Amino acid sequence: MIKKFVLSVSAGLESVAKKEVEKQGGKIIEVVDRLITFEGTFETAAKVNLWSRVGNKVFLLLAEEENIEDFDDLYGLVNTIDFKNLIPKSSPIIVKATSLRSELHHTPTMQSITKKSIIDKLWGWSIEENVDLPKFEILTLLLNNKARILLNLSWDALHKRGYRREAWEAPIKESLAAGLVLLSGWRFKEPFYDIFCGSWTISIEAAMIAKNIAPGLKRNFLIVDLGFISEEKMWELKAEARTKKFDWTYRIFGSDIDEEMILIAQKNAADAGVADEVSFEKMDFKRALHKWLEKDQEAEGCLVTNPPYGLRLEADMESLYKSIDVIFRKNPKLNWWFISNYMEFDSFAKKDFYKKRKLYNWAEKCYFWKKK
Ligand SMILES: C[S@@+](CC[C@H](N)C(=O)[O-])C[C@H]1O[C@@H](n2cnc3c(N)ncnc32)[C@H](O)[C@@H]1O
Repeated sequence: MIKKFVLSVSAGLESVAKKEVEKQGGKIIEVVDRLITFEGTFETAAKVNLWSRVGNKVFLLLAEEENIEDFDDLYGLVNTIDFKNLIPKSSPIIVKATSLRSELHHTPTMQSITKKSIIDKLWGWSIEENVDLPKFEILTLLLNNKARILLNLSWDALHKRGYRREAWEAPIKESLAAGLVLLSGWRFKEPFYDIFCGSWTISIEAAMIAKNIAPGLKRNFLIVDLGFISEEKMWELKAEARTKKFDWTYRIFGSDIDEEMILIAQKNAADAGVADEVSFEKMDFKRALHKWLEKDQEAEGCLVTNPPYGLRLEADMESLYKSIDVIFRKNPKLNWWFISNYMEFDSFAKKDFYKKRKLYNWAEKCYFWKKK
């Protein structure tokens, strides 16, 4: 049966997410700020869960309406949903709410109104919840006064691939790292570099993209627990995904001045199935560029990196980013990009040389700079 689904995504990655949905057979209905609405079957939604590298969560769209400007409107919209046919008796129900550029913006009240409307709709059923049953997570989302009532089909956000161990320093989000690689247009035959690679997130995601490893292979999805797709079907989709893996050789080089993360990074790469693809060397970024690029004037390749932005002294930051500016301009054959929240870069960089795209790492605004 054809249904409407929504893939949420971090701002700035909508065009990449749209292509991902189309690739899995979803018919795009609408692309707005951070939301890709598509039509398809539950199998399509399961495949988007399994294959989306940049998405946050896949939802079933239960109801939507424009001009929801007071709580009565919201209550009424939620009340149109046939919850008795959707939610098994005693299932725990969690309600979340988000609002952006809308009249209704007090999210705790949006949550309680949604929950009240659901409970009223389930009138006659016991309100006792059986915590052993899968959870139904409803998201009430208001964007420009349009309300969408969504049911989470992913559970944990899709950036949780199941390969990453806890790191001591906040690394870049996996879905953003994958988005950067996809935006960079890296052609897999050429070498790929990350000269501030930390825990290797960008390199691991690049290797998974090159090898066409589905990012969701190592995790479960709520779409199965809620019974919209059988375990056998999901197993089949994962088995089919495994047959799509490419086994060519890729040249992915990561380097960092610090090797404290190396053991964790190596384990992460092994768990992600790309241990042999990533080579790591401990070195300063200037030495890495010299070693990899400048010795060979014909060197070509793609460099996507996430330089530090929390250095103790502003003078250190400026000097590091000035070096990046100079070195990058000296390597015109390289397809290079970097992401940072160091906004001061524009004040001294050669402006004509750069273009930039606004992106978010977790909630932090960053720019993804590249040469024009
Ligand atoms: C923002 S973090 C990169 C995080 C990485 N993308 C990840 O997901 O783990 C910046 C990294 O730059 C490294 N670094 C700082 N100064 C450096 C230098 N001069 N040369 C090379 N690496 C450096 C730090 O050790 C840190 O791992």
